[in-house]
Amino acid sequence: GAPVEVDIGALKPGEKVTVEWRGKPVWIVRRTPEQLASLKKTDSEVADPDSDRKAFPTPEYAKNEWRSIKPEFWVGVGICTHLGCSPTDKFQPGPQPSLPDDWQGGFLCPCHGSTFDMAGRVFKNKPAPDNLEVPPHMYLSDTRLIIG
Ligand code: FES
Repeated sequence: GAPVEVDIGALKPGEKVTVEWRGKPVWIVRRTPEQLASLKKTDSEVADPDSDRKAFPTPEYAKNEWRSIKPEFWVGVGICTHLGCSPTDKFQPGPQPSLPDDWQGGFLCPCHGSTFDMAGRVFKNKPAPDNLEVPPHMYLSDTRLIIG
């Protein structure tokens, strides 16, 4: 499939936009300072904090504490690495149904309960075998992103 160009100039902190790339939903999340800070808290609770697993290899330029090129913007494929359901946004921190009391914000897969943090990293002891995929992407300018 062809690369997809996205204008992210209007995306506000805490918002997510979804585009389609190769028939898959790709999410671009503009993370707030709080959401970025939450990654330090979830670091010890996720199964593969440094994205070393290889089922969906993370591009080298996203193998960092944010899993992204720019800390604010996370780009990820919105398909659970277990059996392919699409996880739901659970950006609000705190206790909610099906989420731990110390929930910091992230994503919940409705199918079998895998949870992911604000960098798409899967929590320990969940059915999903890998973090959410980070697709190949690059910035053409501050507000233009190309996926693929
Ligand atoms: Fe997401 Fe099974 S498909 S947990």
